[in-house]
Amino acid sequence: MELMDVIHQRRSIRKYKSDPVPEADIEYILEAARLAPSWANSQCWKFIVIKDENVKHQLAKAGNGWIADAPVIIAACANPVKSGIKADQQYYMLDIGIAMEHLILAATERGLGTCWIGWFDEEPAKKALGVPDNIRLVATTPLGYPDESPKPRGRKELSEITSFEKY
Ligand SMILES: Cc1cc2nc3c(=O)[nH]c(=O)nc-3n(C[C@H](O)[C@H](O)[C@H](O)COP(=O)(O)O)c2cc1C
Repeated sequence: MELMDVIHQRRSIRKYKSDPVPEADIEYILEAARLAPSWANSQCWKFIVIKDENVKHQLAKAGNGWIADAPVIIAACANPVKSGIKADQQYYMLDIGIAMEHLILAATERGLGTCWIGWFDEEPAKKALGVPDNIRLVATTPLGYPDESPKPRGRKELSEITSFEKY
């Protein structure tokens, strides 16, 4: 599929079929995340693949409870010390953002649904996954075959979000 077709097709999917996700597809999308750029190539991330029902439910209790219905959840963790800081901005968030979007687009290409999950109580979520204290749990996504076909969600016009030469 052409990249722009993948970008057009991606949606946040919040209903999933119970069909398992082929291991080869999980590996494919993790590989897409692995190849993402990062601050000074620091690759401050670790991705956790969660299939165990118990662990999924523990994680889902920390927010967005419906994610437990997906056959797989992928969690993206970062070691902030391994990434960069500039003018008080911590770049691990960007590093994870880019890697997660690689992963999400690769999943879309394989016909799999995802949904960026940024809202959860971090401490119980970390506990559910055994994430060490010094590591941040930045985002998760459910992963599986979509059981809904949402229409495209509106976006601002290009003219509203771009300018030339000056802000
Ligand atoms: C950083 C980030 C965090 C998000 N967190 C959540 C979330 O916690 N729960 C949720 O249902 N959707 C979450 N979303 C999905 C957005 O609501 C969704 O991308 C937006 O409404 C546009 O819809 P679309 O992805 O289908 O185009 C998040 C998206 C981003 C980029």
